[in-house]
Amino acid sequence: MPRPLVTVVGAGNVGATTAQRIFEAAIADVVLLDIVEGMPQGKALDLAQAAPVVGHDAKITGTNDYADTAGSDIVVVTSGLARQPGMSRDDLMAKNASIVRSVVQQAAAHSPDAILIVVTNPLDAMCHVALETSAFPPQRVIGMAGVLDSARFRTFIARELGVSVTDTHAFVLGGHGDTMVPLPRYSTVAGVPITELMDPEQIERLVDRTRNGGAEIVSMLKSGSAFYAPAASVFQMVDAVLSDRKRILPCAVYLQGEYDVDGLFVGVPVKLGRGGVEEVIQIDLTEEERSAFLASADSVSELVQKLAEQAAELGLSSVEVAPASGGAMTAEEPAPAAIPESAQQPAGRPAAG
Ligand code: NAI
Ligand code: 2OP
Repeated sequence: MPRPLVTVVGAGNVGATTAQRIFEAAIADVVLLDIVEGMPQGKALDLAQAAPVVGHDAKITGTNDYADTAGSDIVVVTSGLARQPGMSRDDLMAKNASIVRSVVQQAAAHSPDAILIVVTNPLDAMCHVALETSAFPPQRVIGMAGVLDSARFRTFIARELGVSVTDTHAFVLGGHGDTMVPLPRYSTVAGVPITELMDPEQIERLVDRTRNGGAEIVSMLKSGSAFYAPAASVFQMVDAVLSDRKRILPCAVYLQGEYDVDGLFVGVPVKLGRGGVEEVIQIDLTEEERSAFLASADSVSELVQKLAEQAAELGLSSVEVAPASGGAMTAEEPAPAAIPESAQQPAGRPAAG
């Protein structure tokens, strides 16, 4: 039986490391694509020459040509600029939106049945670009952030309590930004909520460090941003989909009324399987958790609104968004691909929400 095919677009730090994980686990054949000529070919050949040592028979192709990606089961989008010190994720938006648009347009044309896993920042806004450009159903467009943010929280919990990371569990919901919402009540060590294991100041310190987890690494690296944990997180999502594992993982998905959010990509727990997002899991939130989650959704909404304005200026696309406070605002332009019917609604929170 042929192996599934996963294309990774962007052969930089996150893309190449993701490709290595998928290839060496031999769960799929891999196509590594980048705009830079020779670079994905060189990295793919290097990885292929490691295969006899690692001991597997998967195939990898490096390319600049989307024809080589045809029929992919999953396309992982990591192409774009990474954050530099002092640069916010939002600063990246205009440049990365145009990269993601062009990449998704070509990748979707060659793999119309693929599941898209978006990594490029600002994550939640880039998911909107991918959804709109591909015209795929929302369950086939998924953003990677929650698995990474939760892994950071788990690491800090395990270090604080001196326990194995494998016995920790955590949920970080909301947007992939400073307003993300780590949920201590749902974060456990061997099933025991950390609220029973640590005092509130300790928890707040770990929550704060999680929120700034990406920036902490950027400030140490000086150039570029984290990639080992991001690649491991993408791998977990790819494996959940290809192996139809029905894993419950926090991912950025297009909410359509769940959690009182409508028409926005926000991080929530979902069931991931061969169909992509097979279910949005709704967990009970306290008033405080709910208002933090909605504040985070509002900040995603503001970002998407900015994205629509930038796109309208460039005459590139059509994104309907609502300001954080409610009423719909439309920036209309001829779109390269139609927004799927299911996605054709004002984005944001319903006024009543
Ligand atoms: P990188 O700079 O190492 O790699 C980016 C690659 O994209 C480069 O090789 C570049 O040539 C390629 N590229 C640029 N334009 C392209 C195009 N039009 N077509 C094909 N390839 C193109 O950056 P890195 O560290 O791999 O990060 C990639 C993106 O992922 C950044 O936007 C970063 O902020 C984001 N990121 C998101 C995370 C998340 O949790 N969602 C975690 C880590 C990174
Ligand atoms: C991170 O959280 C840069 O978004 C990336 O590491």
